[in-house]
Amino acid sequence: QLCDIGFIGLGVMGKNLVLNLADNGFTIAAFDLDNGKVVDAIAQDRLENQAGGNRVVGCSSYTELLSKLKAPHLIVLSVPAGEPVDQVSASLIGAGIQPDDIVIDTGNSLWVDTVAREEKYKNNFILFSSAVSGGEEGARFGPSLMPSGSPYAWTRIKPIWEAIAAKVDSETGKPIERNQPGQVVNTGDPCTAYIGPAGAGHYVKMVHNGIEYADMQIICEAYHVLREGLSLSTDEIADIFEQWNQGPLDSYLMEISVEVLRHKASDDTPLVDLILDKAGQKGTGLWTAVSSLEVGAPAPTIAQAVYARSMSSFKTLREQASHLLTAPDARSYNSDEQQQLINHLHDAIYCAKICAYAQGFQLMKQAEQEHGWKLEFASIAKIWRAGCIIRAVFLQSITEAFERNEELENLILDEFFAQQLSKYQASWRKAIAEITLMGIPVGALSSSLSYYDSMRSSVLPANLLQGQRDYFGAHTFERNDKAKGKKYHVEWSTTERNIVEI
Ligand code: 6PG
Repeated sequence: QLCDIGFIGLGVMGKNLVLNLADNGFTIAAFDLDNGKVVDAIAQDRLENQAGGNRVVGCSSYTELLSKLKAPHLIVLSVPAGEPVDQVSASLIGAGIQPDDIVIDTGNSLWVDTVAREEKYKNNFILFSSAVSGGEEGARFGPSLMPSGSPYAWTRIKPIWEAIAAKVDSETGKPIERNQPGQVVNTGDPCTAYIGPAGAGHYVKMVHNGIEYADMQIICEAYHVLREGLSLSTDEIADIFEQWNQGPLDSYLMEISVEVLRHKASDDTPLVDLILDKAGQKGTGLWTAVSSLEVGAPAPTIAQAVYARSMSSFKTLREQASHLLTAPDARSYNSDEQQQLINHLHDAIYCAKICAYAQGFQLMKQAEQEHGWKLEFASIAKIWRAGCIIRAVFLQSITEAFERNEELENLILDEFFAQQLSKYQASWRKAIAEITLMGIPVGALSSSLSYYDSMRSSVLPANLLQGQRDYFGAHTFERNDKAKGKKYHVEWSTTERNIVEI
């Protein structure tokens, strides 16, 4: 019996995707360079498959994998982004893959590499991309999938992707729970939708990760204020986060932060106190920030989140500086003041989060124009409502905003979000002002506020900046009292300093 799908790469994500596919009735020919992982995936499948039968078939080479698949072959790759994708592609070509076979890259490849790869391999096979979000658990019980590439390939992949993706109740917008092996959900909206041509899906996943960085940093800054500024215990902070997780801040990242904060090491020390404060990163947040600079769509909260990780890595330097540089005088807070700051902090997180998402969506809008894609923003928000790392109640409001107006320039101009920001901005400012006096760094929370204030300023000081540029470099400027597009320059080196039209 030939299998429906070939699968290469059986790390944690790969193995869980295989088991998810198997739960949904697909048969899989699985291969990994490490045969132990193949053995392990088969054993896990046998253990979980109550109905019996070989849903997962092991392969010991690329050739064997191809020989065990229905034609045209459909092969899913779950290998690290970058070089490994090309190594596996070369091996598949060597093993005789055919031009109408489809290979799906599910890793976090850099989107421009995906565009180049699709072109490079087009005579050998169809390279399709579909980044997966949701970590191990998402892969196992329903991830969010961001497919892009050949529309023909999508017609083949769609039913499989819709089966394994996370599902959302169409009425309420809430995720439909699925957490048991063998369990299948056939109802609701699947968290996958065709994004666009090659590269578009990886771009959208990259921005998802940029937003993920911002979301995480915002929560971490709140933790820092509560822990260092108000000297609360990790359990007290977990209690506050748990309460916040009932309202508009309800999200997967908030939920897991509570779990991390509550966890104790064997001697009852909070785990978080034992974790070294140096953050890692694999690059997707950085790519998002770089792209925002390249296309000129400001994403300061996302960039700040990347900087915060880089700053954290200078542990020794920070320790030295902590002895040298002056901190503000410490002040104490009575319980009313403390509660007030906690309330303001809640509002600050909410507003900063709105701005971070607004930045991510505006960046995608700018990239769409730059690269000639046609992105459906309501659909992107929809497929992020469940399965992915940034899943949150909030994504339903974003979906509704783009459904109200699919041409929406920026999320903060939507009537609902504009009203939310107006309602909470005063509280947000109080939080930032107080935290600044405390001396706790909150780059993401405060850069969001600057973003908000810049967006609502009809006048910015770029007039003086243009004057400076004209002074030293004759870069010219436009005037607001003259026709649009006309350029002027001041003859700065002459005594008259006449303004001349260029
Ligand atoms: C997801 C995650 C996933 C991965 C990130 C982590 O959507 O499931 O984003 O793709 O966990 O790459 O990135 P960092 O290691 O850079 O934090």
